[in-house]
Amino acid sequence: MGLIVAIDGEAGAGKSTVAKEVAKMLNFVYVDTGAMFRCVTLDALNKKIDVSNKDGIAEILENIEIKFENDALGQKVFLNGLDVTDKIRTKDVDDKVAEFAAVGEIREKLKELEQEMGKMGNIVMEGRDIGTTIFPNADVKLYIEVSEEERARRRYNQNLEKGINMSYEEILANIKKRHKLETEREISPLRKAEDAIEIDTTNMTFEESIKRIITIINDVKIGKNLKN
Ligand code: DC
Repeated sequence: MGLIVAIDGEAGAGKSTVAKEVAKMLNFVYVDTGAMFRCVTLDALNKKIDVSNKDGIAEILENIEIKFENDALGQKVFLNGLDVTDKIRTKDVDDKVAEFAAVGEIREKLKELEQEMGKMGNIVMEGRDIGTTIFPNADVKLYIEVSEEERARRRYNQNLEKGINMSYEEILANIKKRHKLETEREISPLRKAEDAIEIDTTNMTFEESIKRIITIINDVKIGKNLKN
């Protein structure tokens, strides 16, 4: 069985970019579990099923199929056979996903799917509760941290590039609000697993973060006598 690398941390900590690159370098499968919560949310929005509609949610979960596919341009996300790579990143989904991610039945179903995807190992799975709940025995557990101010600064610059007009203060306030929601929710709140290695990338370049993570993974491989 191959290695399981769990990467957790808050939104905007640059987890996805780092996780993707690490998976590419190791030739591992990359799973973005946030995208899976986004798929459930999109499905519910499309079907006009409210977060409090238990029967409606049960029906969604019974039939849901989420797939990831890699191509030259990156990873594509398929929901029930349809390419939703862009649709899961819209503002409607952004606004609602945290509410859906707090529903126990949804978390249970996605846990099953995530554990199934990781069964063979050689996987980098990224999210909020991978090292704590999904794969508590993962070979490598990383917790990515970035100061809230730095996250706000990065988001502000990304927004400028995209032509989105939002003040730094407003972005910082959103980040703080999200932190509270994610760390204080009842089921599977975001927290660092006790045995996770914390990586604070506030003052690191992207390359430095990658180098640090690859070194950690290689050390684990050496410890396990794995060559590649
Ligand atoms: O990483 P992201 O912003 O795409 O995640 C979308 C939402 O899903 C966000 O509200 C956090 C939640 N999430 C979660 O609760 N557990 C995970 N393992 C991954 C994401």
